[in-house]
Amino acid sequence: MTQQTLSTCAGPSQDELKAMVGQAALQFVVPGEIVGVGSGSTVNKFIDALASMKDQIKGAVSSSMASTQRLQALGIVVFDSNEVERLSVYIDGADEIDQQGHMIKGGGAALTREKIVAAQSARFVCIVDESKLVQTLGKFPVPVEVIPMAVQRLTRQFATLGGTASVRLKDGQPLVTDNGQHILDVAGLQISDPRSFESEVSQWPGVVTVGVFAFQRAQVCLLATPGGVKTMVF
Ligand code: A5P
Repeated sequence: MTQQTLSTCAGPSQDELKAMVGQAALQFVVPGEIVGVGSGSTVNKFIDALASMKDQIKGAVSSSMASTQRLQALGIVVFDSNEVERLSVYIDGADEIDQQGHMIKGGGAALTREKIVAAQSARFVCIVDESKLVQTLGKFPVPVEVIPMAVQRLTRQFATLGGTASVRLKDGQPLVTDNGQHILDVAGLQISDPRSFESEVSQWPGVVTVGVFAFQRAQVCLLATPGGVKTMVF
């Protein structure tokens, strides 16, 4: 069997699927406007594709320092979210998305700024490969940005819901977010009602942001599959 045949049999890699869906998201960018840009490896592909449209847009509002740096390196102007009242579209990835557009986000620790930019956007377009589509949220541990002094109390509180929380580490130390806080990753949850879960956990003292996006759910999901990019509208 030749090498070419082998790669055809294997189908596109996950990286190729991400590039495919990043490119497909360009159709939602509104010329003449500022676009909301999320974070993560899939969004990085979108940012790279957006460079081809940089002269047609005013710029971007970004949800992380990493995305800001990538946008600016490509010559795309980045606005502070306080400078912009409303965005027509926000494009971001997800760790999980269900059939109603509810998502788990925060695998890249940028969930708080992602939720802020999503909240100021009229439409959330989620870009994922098909491995992220689930029936029920919760297989991916739910990231929660927390004030460090609340870590132990919140760990016990998640245990009452059947979750096991652990502090996310980087280089052996608690990871510090762009906002100077920590992340708890909560495993073992089955989130059958994402809105009530988000409502309840958001009120716990010490929680900055819970990585369930139900109130800021996606209106559109572009799903990369080996057969092409599928569009789901919620
Ligand atoms: C970043 O904090 C996340 O919300 C990302 O959107 C999510 O983790 C998806 O990232 P990938 O595109 O890298 O899988």
